[in-house]
Amino acid sequence: MHIPVLVREVVEHLGVCPGGIYLDGTLGGGNHARAILAAAGPGAKIIGIDRDAGALERARANLGPLAAQVHFIHGTFSNMISLVQNSGHREFDGVLLDLGFSSDQLDDSARGLSFMADGPLDMRLDQSQPRTAAQVVNEMPESELADLIYKFGDEPASRRIARAIVAERSGTPFRSTLHLADVIARAKGGRRGARIHPATQTFQAIRIFVNDEFEQARAGCEAAIRLVKGGGRVAVITFHSGEDRIVKQCFARHVGRDVSLPQGGSRWEGDRPRVAWIVKKPLTAGEDEARENPRARSAKLRVIERLQDRAKTNFP
Ligand SMILES: C[S@@+](CC[C@H](N)C(=O)[O-])C[C@H]1O[C@@H](n2cnc3c(N)ncnc32)[C@H](O)[C@@H]1O
Repeated sequence: MHIPVLVREVVEHLGVCPGGIYLDGTLGGGNHARAILAAAGPGAKIIGIDRDAGALERARANLGPLAAQVHFIHGTFSNMISLVQNSGHREFDGVLLDLGFSSDQLDDSARGLSFMADGPLDMRLDQSQPRTAAQVVNEMPESELADLIYKFGDEPASRRIARAIVAERSGTPFRSTLHLADVIARAKGGRRGARIHPATQTFQAIRIFVNDEFEQARAGCEAAIRLVKGGGRVAVITFHSGEDRIVKQCFARHVGRDVSLPQGGSRWEGDRPRVAWIVKKPLTAGEDEARENPRARSAKLRVIERLQDRAKTNFP
């Protein structure tokens, strides 16, 4: 079962207000949505998007009567400006993105995301995406595969793992998760009983690539800033340092900076619409939450507020 992270911090820092209209771009099991609705009361509404049609069904069931306050939309959050057009709402009091996958998705062997249970090497969140994990590991040139494993998995043994994958596939192409996990484990070596499975970072890297997660994060943050009202907030939770960097850089470009002018004074430079940090450093889980939910240990929450400049700009 998926345990949501940083729920209290999200509700508090989004500044959830009674009767507010919120956009949850990663509805998942609807746990954050439930907490937002509980804080915002019966007049509130959530537009909930998810790329996984099954997640929307799970959210509907989990939310029970609160589902009546949610407008469910199947699609990607990178596309949310056009997805919300038919919802009757074009601007929001707050937008939440809780990036990555839910525990139910990660543990579902049929999706091929788990290296603990055998399944087809697929990893796509949405079956309409063009490439599967099997295509990546069976077809990508060795050097590109090594770069991918390093870039998206922070895996120091990326070259050794890529070499082992390419050697194996020339005899037996990869079709199953356990076959891949086994080859990675043998290439990486390592201690028995290590804290994390040797295939963890490589599986994460391939998953991020297959689902284009970094580009989704960048486009999602840009869209969220455009959809939030002046004075409204955007909260983004990440679980990966590369993804957090993308969120931080996007927000920083819109926070901008004051550049000194030779004649004195200064001029603001940055991307519009302008935003301000609500928390300069990302929020992380407290000791209790990290103990109860190990997934929360790598979670980072960044929050910004859009400045009241909507009238002065041409943004939607
Ligand atoms: C960590 S879970 C969200 C959990 C949710 N906040 C909750 O409280 O239950 C992330 C969800 O985002 C969805 N997702 C991932 N990438 C997406 C994208 N680009 N567009 C829309 N949904 C996406 C996944 O299908 C998954 O359901």
